[in-house]
Amino acid sequence: MNEIAIEVNDLSKTYPKSKVKALDGVSFQVKTGKVLGLLGPNGAGKTTIVRILTTIIKQDSGSAKIFGLDLASRTHAIKQLIGLAGQYAAVDENLTGFENLTMISRLNHMNKVAAKSKALELLEKFDLIAAKDRTLKTYSGGMRRRLDLAASLVNNPAILFLDEPTTGLDPQSRLMLWDSIQNLVKSGTTVLLTTQYLEEADRLADTIIVIDHGRLIANGTPTDLKKRFGSSVISITLRNAEATDSATRLLSANFPNKLLSEDNTLKVISQDGPKLTLDVLRIIDANNIEIVGLNVSEPSLDDVFLTLTGQTIQEN
Ligand SMILES: Nc1ncnc2c1ncn2[C@@H]1O[C@H](COP(=O)(O)OP(=O)(O)O)[C@@H](O)[C@H]1O
Ligand SMILES: [Mg+2]
Repeated sequence: MNEIAIEVNDLSKTYPKSKVKALDGVSFQVKTGKVLGLLGPNGAGKTTIVRILTTIIKQDSGSAKIFGLDLASRTHAIKQLIGLAGQYAAVDENLTGFENLTMISRLNHMNKVAAKSKALELLEKFDLIAAKDRTLKTYSGGMRRRLDLAASLVNNPAILFLDEPTTGLDPQSRLMLWDSIQNLVKSGTTVLLTTQYLEEADRLADTIIVIDHGRLIANGTPTDLKKRFGSSVISITLRNAEATDSATRLLSANFPNKLLSEDNTLKVISQDGPKLTLDVLRIIDANNIEIVGLNVSEPSLDDVFLTLTGQTIQEN
């Protein structure tokens, strides 16, 4: 088997109708058996990458290979190797879970007996047996996503594309889906996953690519990125603009390149949360500046974006 599962070179795409340059020269590779997390805010170009690599739409320029097969000339062979789950998966709301999976298996050229047994196997695997005879309309969000994932696995794909698999899910359903994805990876499937959640990419991905406005703005392992962004964010909220100005002057002198500000909230990014929290508070207290809020957390995607682009995702 090819060591490189996905190879993308200088991919660009402008949608003719909106004239939006959705991708602007994106290149990356995914090794066989690994998980790539494609992280970026709404409109970054994530789905466009997935749609090109799953042969739904064509790029304007650049090239891509799946297991060494060129996307443009080997479309048919590539379709046999990939599965797609996420925003636009092809399941029917009015059919039951069992009927959906049987139908998709039949569309994948299985005979009736094989299709039914495949459907049951997948329902079992994704903890949906008890709901197998209910229509999808009655499924919860989490069940719906698990069925989506099951549907994408009917043809035993070597590469699975997951487009925002957990967006909008409650935390418990998200954890369940993460487990399912991790089990798939253990069984050898290569995964390209798009997400808006840093935590999700961190948890599931071997390598993370951050994209914004169709461009790759960072690329590395979760550990690399954390080193770059820091593992903790200390946020302090000041009473007013005047206090914020004083605190900004003091903290930027003490923590150059590590300070982010948003209105009256200042954030300092660091590798060492507890020590830094004390240092920040000592400096603030020694200068008699009053704070009205304090919070120590892991960096969010927003913090990563602020660090990389100087903009928050909302402003983007
Ligand atoms: N079918 C389309 N026609 C026109 N513009 C599109 C279409 N699909 C996406 N876009 C635009 O391309 C950009 C990237 O979209 P998309 O790849 O869906 O981003 P993401 O999945 O990261 O949210 C956005 O600005 C979006 O509005
Ligand atoms: Mg999308």
